[in-house]
Amino acid sequence: MLTLLKLLKDGRFHSGQALGAALGVSRSAVWKQLQQLEAELGLSIHKVRGRGYQLAAPLTLLDPLEIGRLAPSCDWPVLVFHSIDSTNAEALRAIERHQAAPFVVLAERQTAGRGRRGRKWVSPFAENIYYSLVLRIEGGMRQLEGLSLVVGLAVMQVLRELGVPGVGLKWPNDVLVGQKKIAGILLELVGDPADVCHVVLGIGINVNMQMADEVDQQWTSMRLESGRVFDRNHLAAELGLMLQKYLARHQIGGFSAVRAEWEQNHLWQGRAVSLIAGVNQIDGEVLGIDGQGALRLKVDGVEKAFSGGELSLRLRNDS
Ligand code: ATP
Ligand code: BTN
Repeated sequence: MLTLLKLLKDGRFHSGQALGAALGVSRSAVWKQLQQLEAELGLSIHKVRGRGYQLAAPLTLLDPLEIGRLAPSCDWPVLVFHSIDSTNAEALRAIERHQAAPFVVLAERQTAGRGRRGRKWVSPFAENIYYSLVLRIEGGMRQLEGLSLVVGLAVMQVLRELGVPGVGLKWPNDVLVGQKKIAGILLELVGDPADVCHVVLGIGINVNMQMADEVDQQWTSMRLESGRVFDRNHLAAELGLMLQKYLARHQIGGFSAVRAEWEQNHLWQGRAVSLIAGVNQIDGEVLGIDGQGALRLKVDGVEKAFSGGELSLRLRNDS
């Protein structure tokens, strides 16, 4: 099926006979594979009598060589999957297989893309970026402090550099345009955080996606915000370079080194919010974050700091 897709990706017409000859199968076998492509990957294929088959729009597939060529100073090996349950899950399996970190797992689609707290990350084929970077951390807890916030900052900067207007951050690690989510980040950790561990930095960026009925909250994409179609290989290369830069700053100076920059880009700075922790709700005003990346809220006139993966921030209706 992948070979057929590669033949069709130029967006031109290909006759059933030519496709069959290239694949070494009959025309009816070509037809079956075309139907599979449509059903499994959600691709739209036009059939015109006398001309053959054509993808509704040309496709640029992810290419590890191209990503490496575009970011020569980033030497992380890149593994690209056509379809995978989740790039984070695959990264965790690779750690178990003792694959040497750092490395990157990318996929054209995820069948079980995961968000925070077991939620689903909608991941259609060849439209977005599903990226997991694996790091080996030896420096203990300090190397993990505020790490997900640093990743959010790097993602935000890449989107800005590529010309997406209005991108900002929401604590702890959402990247938004206004109220709409354009990227999400999920960190997963294995090993002993106080000693040696591996951390998977999972990043989902909505790139060229224009429709996604299954997403049950406000969302947007780079294309919807800028009116342009983006080359995902270029984006993956730029993302690698930007992550390298921010992770180095974090490694040297700890989270304090990027704290002020993060606060300057926090869309909800000074806003009245509710912090949700399971069934509990704390109302307060956002003061900022502390040197470890914890959220600082003014609650009943007193400053308090909150951290933890299970916390969600909501704007209060009166804010
Ligand atoms: P928080 O709980 O921090 O307020 P959130 O409501 O965005 O954040 P998360 O768990 O961080 O929730 O993200 C998962 C949610 O993201 C899903 O429940 C879904 O609503 C939404 N989502 C899923 N796929 C996408 C996507 N491709 N683009 C934007 N949003 C998505
Ligand atoms: C969130 O906002 O809830 C986090 C979403 C994280 C999605 C990315 S896509 C690449 C990586 N693989 C996954 O299964 N999830 C992360």
